[in-house]
Amino acid sequence: MKGILLAGGSGTRLHPMTLAASKQLLPVYDKPMVYYPLSTLMLAGIRDILIISTPQDLPQFRRLLGSGERFGIRFAYAEQPRPDGIAQAFRIGAEWLNGEPAALALGDNLIHADHLSDLLRRAAGRGAGATVFAYQVRDPERYGVVSFSESGQALEIVEKPSVPASNWAVTGLYFYDRNVCDYARNLRPSDRGELEITDLNRIYLETGALHVERLSRGCAWLDAGTPDSLLQAATFVQTIQARQGMLVGCPEEVAFRMGFIDADQLRTEARRLGKTELGHVLTELADSPPAHALSHPAMQEAQRALSHPAMQEAQRLGVEPV
Ligand code: DAU
Repeated sequence: MKGILLAGGSGTRLHPMTLAASKQLLPVYDKPMVYYPLSTLMLAGIRDILIISTPQDLPQFRRLLGSGERFGIRFAYAEQPRPDGIAQAFRIGAEWLNGEPAALALGDNLIHADHLSDLLRRAAGRGAGATVFAYQVRDPERYGVVSFSESGQALEIVEKPSVPASNWAVTGLYFYDRNVCDYARNLRPSDRGELEITDLNRIYLETGALHVERLSRGCAWLDAGTPDSLLQAATFVQTIQARQGMLVGCPEEVAFRMGFIDADQLRTEARRLGKTELGHVLTELADSPPAHALSHPAMQEAQRALSHPAMQEAQRLGVEPV
């Protein structure tokens, strides 16, 4: 499975901060915003990632992220000339995906949850259909909203409904099978002129192939698209890191825990971060990895499962592995 990180758009709700800077490169506490969804994709075991951004911002992403070698992964880059919709990612990325299944992460979304790697692994491991994640919010009208039958079956999915049928918002993390580019090719722009991700998800829903994972109240899902949510996200990261001493959304750490880089490489990355607290924490991790870090069964299992030939074949054929 490959990953796409969508980090374009004009960030109008964050003007003037985004008049001369990409929204997804703004800091969320101690890291650029894009590090959080990047870490999520890596945690799913994905090592080939296409970064899509505007023609003017893409060079800054290249400068920040490079080839991906220092995270033990590979980045490719592509321009989205205009913000014509989230689903356009699968038209821009079609050739690069080359018929493989894909996960899409929005560059302003942060998910933090216990057992997140299990959830991601399950989604990435599904050979057929699509998986989205739903989260209960107080203001569902700002999002794609999914409603459920009494038995928990997803019934309907609507983009920014004025009268939401539920308070379950669809988060900005999506897993699709290899049909996704064909479906995206046939989408029509919505009334607001965008290729809607919700319309793509509806195609899967209508063919009975949409899996909706409901995130529990113990999970945190934040988007950082407004001054308030940007501040809330930063405060959240700062609180968790200070309280637990655990990093949130740190790709160097994820790369190490997933076995994409070794302790020496992690030390080199920590040195690049200089005298920052992040650099300090990463050095400590490299010098004395807790037993569970290197050999966390979920991490090892995720990698094993994804690299298993049967899984790769199932993904290629678009069937559920048995
Ligand atoms: O955050 C989750 C929500 O994201 C979903 O619940 C909605 O269904 C989905 O449409 C989307 O809603 P938003 O109102 O948050 O979408 P927004 O236009 O703000 O775009 C989300 C991110 O994607 C943002 O960081 C900018 C980027 N983007 C967006 C568009 C439309 C692009 O890079 N290119 C685009 O063409």
